[in-house]
Amino acid sequence: MAEKAKIAILISGRGSNMAALIYAAKSHDCPYEIVLVACNDCDASGLKLAEAEAITTFAHSHKSMSREDYDDVMHDAITRSGAEYVVLAGYMRILSDGFVRKWANHMLNIHPSLLPKYKGLDTYQRAIDAGDKVAGCSVHLVTAELDDGPVLAQTEVAILPDDNAERLARRILIAEHQLYPATLAKYVSREADPDWILEQVRERALALAETHERESFGSPGWRAGSEKTGKYFAYFTQKLHGEASVGLLVKTSGLDEQAALVDADPELYYIPKFFGKSGWIAVRLNIGRTDWDHVSDWLYKSWRMVAPKRLTKMIDIADQF
Ligand code: GRF
Repeated sequence: MAEKAKIAILISGRGSNMAALIYAAKSHDCPYEIVLVACNDCDASGLKLAEAEAITTFAHSHKSMSREDYDDVMHDAITRSGAEYVVLAGYMRILSDGFVRKWANHMLNIHPSLLPKYKGLDTYQRAIDAGDKVAGCSVHLVTAELDDGPVLAQTEVAILPDDNAERLARRILIAEHQLYPATLAKYVSREADPDWILEQVRERALALAETHERESFGSPGWRAGSEKTGKYFAYFTQKLHGEASVGLLVKTSGLDEQAALVDADPELYYIPKFFGKSGWIAVRLNIGRTDWDHVSDWLYKSWRMVAPKRLTKMIDIADQF
């Protein structure tokens, strides 16, 4: 199994979601491990549970500190723990923009409503008062706006005719304890999911000027130029010609560059069957260290080799200066 993703959980209180995540992480095939539980309240009961489970804890009160300074302290503790993801579990603090930016796409939150409905507090009563038939919980990525980032998963919980906020909250909490560990597991494993990888490549390839997608022998490919005369500059490969790896095929300047790449980093690059003779290189995308900016650079370089002159002419001139 690939190395487990390292998780820091931030709490403010009882930490029942934290507990659900800790227990889920005990399963040997869980793709994450909890390396830190951090808290802004030194007396939070969740801390004691984490300690009893032999998880490193960090408690620091936010009192008399600016938001930015406090978030810096938290960020340092998280970084020291080696965590790659921050998971908010009842962490009752508004986060500074700087902190959110540092953990962009690597920070999740759970919220007790079916977002985008009922952001903020008092979600249960608001759902009951609105006469909703269902309430629920959502796991979402954290962005600068409160409870606003892209939703990763939700669970609906029926509202009973005689429900009150307390009873509804109790049932939603049960749903939260199921949803959070499962969603986190899926999220940290996304880099090994071929569909997710394909989506990343597609977005980047189609962002280049005058490109379109066309399948070639069952593999998605991207062409520069018109539908009629366009030329391929990239292909997505999944077990292509028996190669058991997810990769991106792009053009190099020729056989010398191709050989040099494989020589320098044989884990990342390989010579694709059939395409290899004409100087294409395959970049592996499922080895757990994909640098997506690097992938964008490859797509751009390859696009430039086949794109119509009228598109590349200005870039060529600019490059001379
Ligand atoms: C949960 O209801 C969660 O949805 C919200 O805060 C509460 C935390 O509860 N974000 P716990 O500390 O995990 O028990």
